[in-house]
Formats: sequence, C-alpha cells, structure tokens
Amino acid sequence: MTIPNEFTEAAVKVNSAREDQLYSEFLRSGEPWKSMYRNNPWLAPPDMRKPLEWGSGQYWDTTVARKHPHWKDKGLPIATKDIHQMRRDLKQWGFCLVEEGMSEDQCTRFRERLFAQAAGERSAGVQMPTPSGQYVNSLVNKGRCFVQCIEQDPEGVQAGPLIEEIMDETLGKGWICHSFLSNGADPGGYPQGLHIDQAPLLPFQTEEAPVLCNTMYIPQDVNEENGGTLLIPGSHQIMAAAGSGGQVGELPPAINLEARAGTLLIFDGRLIHGTGANRTDRQRFVATMSNVTAWTRQQENWIMTVAPDVLAEASPKLLHRMGLQALTYGGTIEGFGLGAQGRVGDAFGSLKEFREAYDRGEYVRVRELQAQPSKEELERDYTLKAAYARVAAQRKSNA
Ligand SMILES: [Fe+2]
Repeated sequence: MTIPNEFTEAAVKVNSAREDQLYSEFLRSGEPWKSMYRNNPWLAPPDMRKPLEWGSGQYWDTTVARKHPHWKDKGLPIATKDIHQMRRDLKQWGFCLVEEGMSEDQCTRFRERLFAQAAGERSAGVQMPTPSGQYVNSLVNKGRCFVQCIEQDPEGVQAGPLIEEIMDETLGKGWICHSFLSNGADPGGYPQGLHIDQAPLLPFQTEEAPVLCNTMYIPQDVNEENGGTLLIPGSHQIMAAAGSGGQVGELPPAINLEARAGTLLIFDGRLIHGTGANRTDRQRFVATMSNVTAWTRQQENWIMTVAPDVLAEASPKLLHRMGLQALTYGGTIEGFGLGAQGRVGDAFGSLKEFREAYDRGEYVRVRELQAQPSKEELERDYTLKAAYARVAAQRKSNA
C-alpha cells in the first residue's frame, strides 16, 4: 500500500517544527506554576528524602488566621450559618465555613464510620498511603452517611439545602460529583504540595467563576497542630486575574485552617491549598467532596466503582451526582444520552440499567451488522434497545 508522502510519520515530523505548531506553546507554558515558584520560593514542596524543615519560612510553617501576623486583622472567614456572609467570603477569599454544617449526631456518625473504615483498610492491606497520610477513597461504597452527603440529604448533613444552593449558583444547575474521598494527615507526614483543584484545566483559567467547587467535611477539630488544611486566602482572585497562561507575582502567606468538628469548608477550585503537616501523635481526617460542572470528566469513575447494592438502592439524585445520568456532552453509552438533558430521574440518559446488565453478564452491545442481519442477530436482546423502550414507556406514562 502506498500512502501520499505528506501523510507519512517522517513527513509529518519534518513539517511540525516547534514554531509551526498550533497552540503547543500556550499548552506547554507551564503557567501559572513557573512564575509562581520563581516569585515565591517559599512555595517549593518539601524534599521527602529529608526530615521536614521548620523555621525557614516554607509554606507549611504557618499558623491559623487569628494568630497569623499578616492575616489576623484582615477579617478572614469565620464559621457562620448566614448564606449571605458565605457568598461574600467565597467571592472575596475563595472559601467559607459553614458552622455546624453537620449536627453533633451526624458528625459523630461520620467520624466513627470514617475512622473505623480507615483502620479496616489498613488491616485488610487495601489502604492508600500518601506522603501526607492515609486516603480513604470512594466513600460512596463505605457507609450510608457518606451517600447522604453526596445527596446533600439533611438526614446526613443538616446544611444540605444551603450547600446545594451555593453549588447551583457557582457551577450551574446539573453539576455533578467529581469524587468523594477522605484525606488523612498522619503524624509526621509531609504537607501536600500547594495546588489548585481545577489544575487539570490549566493553562486555561476561568476568570469569572470556578468550574470546580469543594465541600470539605470536617469530622474532628482541625488546627495548626494536626495538619489543618493550608490555604492562601484570596488566591482564587490572583489566579483569575493572571488569566489563561498568565503569570503570578508575589503571593500572600498561607494559613492553616482552623475549624471545629461538624464544620464544612466550601472552597473555590482556583484557591491555592494543600494538606498541612500533622505534628500531633494522632491521625487526622477530613473528607473532600469535589463538585464539577456537568461536562467535566470526573475524578472517580463512578459507573465502575459503585457497588451493586449501593447502585440498586441509589436515589435518582445520587445516580445523577455520580454521572450515571448521561447528557449530550457527557457519559453517553453507545450513543444513548445524546440529546438528553441530564435531568434527575429521566429514563433518557439513565445508565443504571446498562451497568446492571453488565453486572449480570447480560450486557449486549451492538456490533458489526450486515445490511440483512441474521435471524439470531435480529432477535438479540440489545441493552440499548431496552433502554429506548424504557424512554418510550416513561414518555407514555407522563403524557
Ligand atoms: Fe486539593
């Protein structure tokens, strides 16, 4: 087979010098990190071959806002139940604190389940260690209290309706859950490198609003001693001002998060943050539920992760949050969902039945077909066909 010379690997290579390439220079700019590290050497992550350094002004060597010389008089967010205050805090500082977001009972249930799970995973040898501490992943399968948080069900998180309103306003209705996992800070662990959670989008920067917004569940008191999350207040605005591919100058110092058990931290996907260093002798856990706009590729591949019994009992809302409600630009299976609106409970775009068929070993995909398929091919129980039948039945019953 001869192919035109212009299409050969060698010819393509010769004609793709760096200066001729379309957007590569922008995509490889390395911003905002390049300028950020150059202008803020104290942001360099720790050398993990050495003991953690204290007293040299690195980002982890800090304290909580009310004790911080730079920040103590700046009016940084404190925990509140006032949604207007939360909006102001999120806009100005990139984070806000929901006071008693979980009731005492909810918080206790959450904490006990989480600590038991973490211990169980260590015993079973399935724990995920990180330089900062143990992670407990995929909480959806590990307790009803976690499922309730994904649904913002007031039974599990009393501030649920308030969180949903803030997410709707920030990410637009139809937002989904990126992942829900617990970040541990173990005694003697290293601080996490500071980062922004919507970094996969870089060097594109979203100026007007984030495309990711976090809700952090805080099941125990956190502070500068036990690895309270490091935050650079207002850094979301600095990122936004730098713009796509833009440079960042000198940054203000980081603080450790201080919060009581039961508080929720909501923070902007552009806020610079990271797990702090735990200097106590006890493990510290927080749990981060990250939420994203409806079109984002999710961190957790929920359609595979979710356990069959959790799936069987999942509410339409939970299915939607996990991304099992396909729509034109996300999550379609064999084209099913193209044209769907991604509405909670809509048979059109519902992926649950595909996964259930897969679990039963009965998922039948549409394969190569001749113009005149055989009798056997015509009679096959295509999973796709059943899905469209459900859509038609739902429409009929709604009519
Ligand atoms: Fe993060």
